[in-house]
Amino acid sequence: MYRSRPEGSIDREILNYVSSLEDDFVIFFYDIIGSEAHMIMLHEMGYLSRRELIELLQALEEAKLHLKPIMKKSEHEDVHEAIESFVVEKIGIGKGGMLQTARSRNDQVMADLKMKVRDDINEVSLLLGDLVESLLKRADSNKETVMLFYTHLQHAQIGTFSHYLLSYTESLFRDMERLKELYARINQSPLGSLAIGGSTFPIDRNRTASLLGFDQLSVNSIDATSSRDVIMEYLSCLSIIMITLSRISEDLILWATDEFKYIELADSASSTSSAMPQKKNPDPLEILRSKSARIVGNLTASLTILKGLPSGYSRDLQELKSLVFSSTATTASSLSMLRLVIETSIVHKTRMLEIAKNSFANAIDVAELLTSKGYLDFRSAHKLVGSLVKLAISKGKRTLGDLSGREIEQLFQASGYQIPLEALKEIIVACGAENVVTLRKSKGSPNHSEQVDMILHNKMRLTKIRDETADRKKAIDKAYDDLSRIVRSYILTSESRQPKGHP
Ligand code: ARG
Repeated sequence: MYRSRPEGSIDREILNYVSSLEDDFVIFFYDIIGSEAHMIMLHEMGYLSRRELIELLQALEEAKLHLKPIMKKSEHEDVHEAIESFVVEKIGIGKGGMLQTARSRNDQVMADLKMKVRDDINEVSLLLGDLVESLLKRADSNKETVMLFYTHLQHAQIGTFSHYLLSYTESLFRDMERLKELYARINQSPLGSLAIGGSTFPIDRNRTASLLGFDQLSVNSIDATSSRDVIMEYLSCLSIIMITLSRISEDLILWATDEFKYIELADSASSTSSAMPQKKNPDPLEILRSKSARIVGNLTASLTILKGLPSGYSRDLQELKSLVFSSTATTASSLSMLRLVIETSIVHKTRMLEIAKNSFANAIDVAELLTSKGYLDFRSAHKLVGSLVKLAISKGKRTLGDLSGREIEQLFQASGYQIPLEALKEIIVACGAENVVTLRKSKGSPNHSEQVDMILHNKMRLTKIRDETADRKKAIDKAYDDLSRIVRSYILTSESRQPKGHP
């Protein structure tokens, strides 16, 4: 179709090598409506007669219905060539040959990709919202579920399971915000930029943009056709999401071990072993962990594709499409899968409490109380409690509360501490695992009222961000509905008007 200078046809093997038809199925719909919008604009500007427009739109609508299944077998480089050939075949070169007027595959493919990515952003945002909703539900029923928090994977402080779950809603909200900000940068139309340097036709770029639901123009024609920073940004957003999901998975995998036994995956979310009958394996979470590596790989590939490219379109950019499509699909399925795991996992509350009780993770609270009650400065309190922990461990005890009065007094005598024994014992009792969280006063800590506030606040944030996503979707749907109404209204009438003529 495009071979004006090169003679003969391209070598079949080379055609297969350069062809993007396989990936282009995903942008097929966008390419058709992009063409329809462009044709309508050309007609409105007087460069296509009504009759020409109607025939072009009819051919495009036919392509929409019939071309996709046969496209794979066609001998074209990409969806753009396949559609143009179909149209030319239907209505002849005289009319069909107008399809690419004032446009190039370079602005076209970026418009298609942006329409696809804005849909992907909305889909991923909604799935993030669903995961957040599940985390909030589980947080709500685990506000009193005491558990250990770890730093360096060593016992750190005592907290609640809800607090852990809510820590991840924060990241997921930031993911949604990142996507929302990116959406504004994605939703700018490159159409009408041509190959790199614009057109001699005084086309109305704003009109095609608004027909396709773009909020703005990507104005500079070089930038519009050859930059892909927004695509790299999208892949970065997905990578960040997947890394977060991978970390959640890692926690759950660890906590499902017999050594931890904090949670148990539902049978419906577990795999087993062909050899070991006792096995209940967290394979879905392991697969997620590993799929996250592929998403990061796709981001790295996109950065590397762009790294050495001169400005202006180069065919290298074609390879970005499959990276985007597979990253969206994997992120979307990972979000849904993890939501199912979160919703169905069994939480072993008693076991969590038991481990927290038999630990020294309240040591920091004991040291803080010694300071806040005026007995010691914090560093001295830290040293005293450290010595008490060391003493308890040396005596084979598992908590500070297991130390006897005599043992503590001996330590006081040896190290010269002047604290009333009873006061220290009271502090240790107050800092018991079941009670200690109620003593935490700072904002954002795991105490009950903070959990209630966070859940409430998160619910409000979720409603707002879901509404914003729904509004974005509605705006796209409206643009597509309006466009299809315009297309239908032209097709249903058969009046013709004379073209103004080409410049
Ligand atoms: N199939 C190409 C892509 O996906 C379309 C643009 C080709 N442009 C060109 N000048 N070769 O990027």
